[in-house]
Amino acid sequence: MDGTLHIYDDTWELHEDGCPCDLHFLDFLADRGIANATIFHMGTGAHHVVGQRSAENGSGNAVLGITASPGEYERYVKLAIERPRIVGSYKAFFGDIYQLDARLLPPLDVATLFHLCEFRTERNDAYGAMTDLAVARLLWDKLKPGGRMLFYRKSMSYDKAIPNIAELRQQRDMIPEPDFKTLQVFRKPAAKAAKRRTPAKTKAKAETKTKTKAETKTKAKTRPRVAARKPAGRERRR
Ligand SMILES: C[S@@+](CC[C@H](N)C(=O)[O-])C[C@H]1O[C@@H](n2cnc3c(N)ncnc32)[C@H](O)[C@@H]1O
Repeated sequence: MDGTLHIYDDTWELHEDGCPCDLHFLDFLADRGIANATIFHMGTGAHHVVGQRSAENGSGNAVLGITASPGEYERYVKLAIERPRIVGSYKAFFGDIYQLDARLLPPLDVATLFHLCEFRTERNDAYGAMTDLAVARLLWDKLKPGGRMLFYRKSMSYDKAIPNIAELRQQRDMIPEPDFKTLQVFRKPAAKAAKRRTPAKTKAKAETKTKTKAETKTKAKTRPRVAARKPAGRERRR
């Protein structure tokens, strides 16, 4: 172990048949009508299809993608230079997902963890990187109420991801939603609505208020005057 960053030493092109997760994800977003959302995406690939199509398809979705591949990141730089409109709403960054810092992430509507457990080894331990469970928990906690997290059932390490997902479900309130194609979906509970008075309660409260006001008026009328009465002219002379 040389202690250097555990990079992804490949440059992954789009394989529609062998690895359709990113395409299924785009279909999922369209199917659920997800628009103007903030999306965190693990594993951009060299194709950058999630960020690129989201910027082009009118959904208004903003994508933050991570890649641990220098070659894939180079392709992002090329994309940014050649097609600046795309990277207005699509930011990719180079790094190890196991070193995410919650303080640097925005609140999210959707997070993908398609490649959870695929690449983490003792090489990540060497520099104190997070575990798979810790990174999943961090991203779950960044989800807004009602936000969604997606896993890829056909991932080469889905069997290793299963106990991590199960553990996270023990720790957090994760609502399973129906699978979409190859994707497993969980939803965060929606925010609790602010407590609203029932109409009956509101009416009763309004009546009490009116009553109290009326009572106060009557009381004020019957209250004895405390201020001394000015003596009338004749009285004054006496
Ligand atoms: C097999 S490729 C899949 C890319 C794309 N999601 C797709 O299905 O076409 C794996 C992706 O995971 C990314 N990756 C691997 N290890 C990573 C890590 N530690 N942190 C962030 N991304 C990582 C790679 O950079 C690459 O984009």
